[in-house]
Amino acid sequence: MLTAAALHTALNPRPFRYFDSVPSTQDIAREWALADPDLPSGAVVIADHQTAGRGRQGREWLSQPGSSLMCSIVLRPDPTPDHLPRVTMIGGVAVHEILEPLLANRVALKWPNDIHADGRKLCGVLAEATWIGDQLAAVILGIGLNVRCDFTGTDLASTATCLEAAGGWPVHRRNLLVVLLARVDHWAKRIGDPALLAAWQERLGTLGKRVRVYTDTSNPDSPFFTGIAESVDDNGGLVVRLDSGEQRIVYAADVGLREQ
Ligand code: BTN
Repeated sequence: MLTAAALHTALNPRPFRYFDSVPSTQDIAREWALADPDLPSGAVVIADHQTAGRGRQGREWLSQPGSSLMCSIVLRPDPTPDHLPRVTMIGGVAVHEILEPLLANRVALKWPNDIHADGRKLCGVLAEATWIGDQLAAVILGIGLNVRCDFTGTDLASTATCLEAAGGWPVHRRNLLVVLLARVDHWAKRIGDPALLAAWQERLGTLGKRVRVYTDTSNPDSPFFTGIAESVDDNGGLVVRLDSGEQRIVYAADVGLREQ
C-alpha cells in the first residue's frame, strides 16, 4: 500500500504530494511548479490511480488502482531548452538502473522512451515542458511502471508486462520509488554530461536491430520504412540505415522491432 504517512518517512525531506486518485500526476506537478517558484527540483507527485493518465503522442495511460508506480517529477532550474530531449533519457536510464539488478539483461530500453522486459513494455516515460511565456519554468518527468497487473484478455496481453510477473516476487512500490528518485536526482544534476547520452545509448536494446519506423504516430496503418537502427544522435534522434544505404534520423516516431 502507498500511503502519505509512509511516503513522508521514506521521502523526507523531498517535497511530495500523494493522491489515491487523480486525473493525471503530470497536471498536478505542472500546476505545483507554476504556483510555487521556490519548489525545488526533485519534488514529486505520486498517485495510486489515475483517471486520465496520459502517454506519449496524446495516448491514454491506463492502470488499475494499486497496480503501478506512477509519479511526476519536477525538474528545474535545469534543464535548459537545449536539454529537453535529455529529460526522457534521464527517466529511461534511471528506471533501467533500478531494474537491472532485478532482471539483468532481460530489461532494455526501447527507443525513444519505453522500458521493456523480455520484449514487453514494462514502463513508459513522458517528459513535458512547462513554459511561462518563452521561459522554461520546469520539465515534468512522468514515469509509469507496471508493478502488478493482469492484462489477460486485453489488447495489451501480448505486448505488456509488469515487474511482479517478470520477476516472480512481490514488489514494494515505495522502496522502488525511493531508489528511482535517487537515480533521477543523480542524472538530473548531470543533464549536460556526455555520460548521460552514453548511459542511455548503451541501454538501448533497439540499436543494431532491424526496425520498422512509423513517423505518423497518430495512425497505426500509416506508411512506414524499415532499416537497421544504427545509433542515436546527441538529441536522442534514432539514426536508421535503410536498405538503399540512405540514412534517416527520426525524433518522433513509433518503432517496431523486426526479426533480422
Ligand atoms: C508512454 O509510454 O507513452 C509514457 C507513459 C507515461 C505514464 C506516466 S504515469 C505518471 C505520469 N502521469 C501521466 O499522466 N503520465 C505519466
